[in-house]
Amino acid sequence: MKSTASAPGKVILFGEHFVVHGTKAILCSIDKRVTVSSEIISDKKIIVKSDLGQISVNSSEPISKIKSSFKPFIFIAKKMMEEFNHNAGISIEINSEIPSGVGLGSSSACCVAAAGSISALFSKLSKEKIVQLSIDAEKTVFERASGADTTISAHGGIIEYDMGEFHPIKSKISFSLVIANSTIIHSTNKVVTKVNEFRKKNNVEFSELCNQESKLIQKAQESIMNNDIVSLGKCMNENQMYLEKIGVSNEKLQTMIAIAERSSFGAKITGAGGGGCIIALVNDSNINETLQNLKREKYECFTTKIGVEGLNTF
Ligand code: PMV
Repeated sequence: MKSTASAPGKVILFGEHFVVHGTKAILCSIDKRVTVSSEIISDKKIIVKSDLGQISVNSSEPISKIKSSFKPFIFIAKKMMEEFNHNAGISIEINSEIPSGVGLGSSSACCVAAAGSISALFSKLSKEKIVQLSIDAEKTVFERASGADTTISAHGGIIEYDMGEFHPIKSKISFSLVIANSTIIHSTNKVVTKVNEFRKKNNVEFSELCNQESKLIQKAQESIMNNDIVSLGKCMNENQMYLEKIGVSNEKLQTMIAIAERSSFGAKITGAGGGGCIIALVNDSNINETLQNLKREKYECFTTKIGVEGLNTF
């Protein structure tokens, strides 16, 4: 028996990092996806294959002994095998269109697609259960994960995320994003730890920034609802200032943002920062100019459709 599922990557429009410390965040899905196929096999093994390599472990291997970056998928397979008393093995194949380590949610999308695909070998789980399974899997490699990325990947659309709860944001706003990749791979875990150190040293400033971020997210949500792209762009620029204050920007990202700001409505880092991608808010009036300005400076960039469908199981 074989089962396939796909899940989208994401961008964080507002609230990265601050969300780890309890503020809300606004996220949307993007039209780059991960597809995971899994299959029951007779060997008592869990096999994971992707463009990044391959691993094969005994089904009985304790999860604590596994050191591979494929640990989340082995965790999901073991969890499902235990729950459904399956004592043979599973083979898992991952194909991704999402560049990894650059803030576009590739690891969360992999966890969601893997949870969707592997669980469907045994039963039809609710989306809530799949999200929880994906969050638990992601936490095997990144303990402080907020769960925001897995939630948007499973549900798709544009959402406001609030400490594990989420609300879809329905709007007719017609905006697109230009995404530019700094090609500096970041470790979310390391950048989150760095922000935590900043918070410990600058407690008062950090909690004031969290308050400002919360107000900004309220304003951004109103701008989305009122279809006000100019105001939304200004909110993005303001969010970028807060991200710079907590130390997750760098010279290359600043240069890319400055180029994008010339023609777009607003631009900021998306995701953990320290590298990764920036996003620029555009519509038909400035999409080409923004793309050309970034391409002229040799930055890897593309436009994306946003708010696409979440987890899809075939
Ligand atoms: O760069 P990414 O896609 O891993 O996004 C990380 C977002 C953070 O807010 C920094 C962490 C989190 O778990 O929300």
